[in-house]
Amino acid sequence: MSEEIDKTNCIQVFVQDRQGKEHILEGPTDLGLNLMDLCKIHELPMAGTCGGVALCASCQCYVVSGHVLPPKGVEEENMLSEAFHVRQESRLACQIRLNSQIHGLRVIMAPEEEYGE
Ligand code: FES
Repeated sequence: MSEEIDKTNCIQVFVQDRQGKEHILEGPTDLGLNLMDLCKIHELPMAGTCGGVALCASCQCYVVSGHVLPPKGVEEENMLSEAFHVRQESRLACQIRLNSQIHGLRVIMAPEEEYGE
């Protein structure tokens, strides 16, 4: 007996890791997850040190598809103003909610943050 998986609320996103390898990730839109959660579920090396509250930038990524995302919140703006490797297309993956609007989103993981001594 086979169980059918309901993919009605499932989207796909494309994430390029720091070695340049692209991963196709599928995730549900009805569980309140964000892109950082999805990367961690798929065991990509995204630290998510602050737990997804825009306080660490370890989930920074570059959005390279033409998707129009909701504008950055104040916390995200503040964090990105202090982070390394920030580009115009930088976003914090933990602030990108999985929903149908981001189906097909393509991102590149930013280099890891380097901390001084
Ligand atoms: S997980 Fe810390 S800023 Fe996204």
